[in-house]
Amino acid sequence: MGPDLERVLLGQSELAEGIARLAAEIDADYNGRELLLVGVLKGAVMVMADLSRALHRPATMDWMAISSYGAGTKSSGVVRILKDLDADIAGQHVLVVEDIIDSGLTLSWLLSNLRSRNPASLEVCTLLRKPDAAKVEIDVKYVGFDIPNEFVVGYGLDFAERFRNLPFIGTLAPHVYS
Ligand code: PRP
Ligand code: MN
Ligand code: MG
Repeated sequence: MGPDLERVLLGQSELAEGIARLAAEIDADYNGRELLLVGVLKGAVMVMADLSRALHRPATMDWMAISSYGAGTKSSGVVRILKDLDADIAGQHVLVVEDIIDSGLTLSWLLSNLRSRNPASLEVCTLLRKPDAAKVEIDVKYVGFDIPNEFVVGYGLDFAERFRNLPFIGTLAPHVYS
């Protein structure tokens, strides 16, 4: 595991089960509707790759890159668009795909931004959520796992751009960020 990690929070098989559960819910809910998955770069790449392949329906994908954390461990609340969507989402059934909702600041900003583009529907699927860290309440339809308020990395999640390629979710050893 390496000296920078404390413990495994969610292993590969738990993650796969969580993704399969989310995909089954989404499959059932979007029956008869064309789905546009909007992935939030960079953290959501692994969730998007696995979730999209677990769906039993055609779905299109687009990506938005936003960043609020920079190199720190706390959300700044100041969200920057690094890359916008390629296409107009007006009239489409949009499902935002996120890796984690921590303070909720990133997503609450993103949802009001996307809502102003008049999609037919707008929902959120997040792999992880930290209920104890929420600064804003967000209505999230699909949640993989509620987790404790610890700094987690892996499966897309980074600390200063490291650890994204771990196949599991682990907690960071305090010496790395303190
Ligand atoms: C992380 C994570 C979420 C957001 C959640 O992204 O991927 O998008 O922070 O935090 P919040 O709920 O407190 O706003 P980050 O800004 O680190 O960019 P990244 O996805 O490129 O790592
Ligand atoms: Mn992110
Ligand atoms: Mg990050």
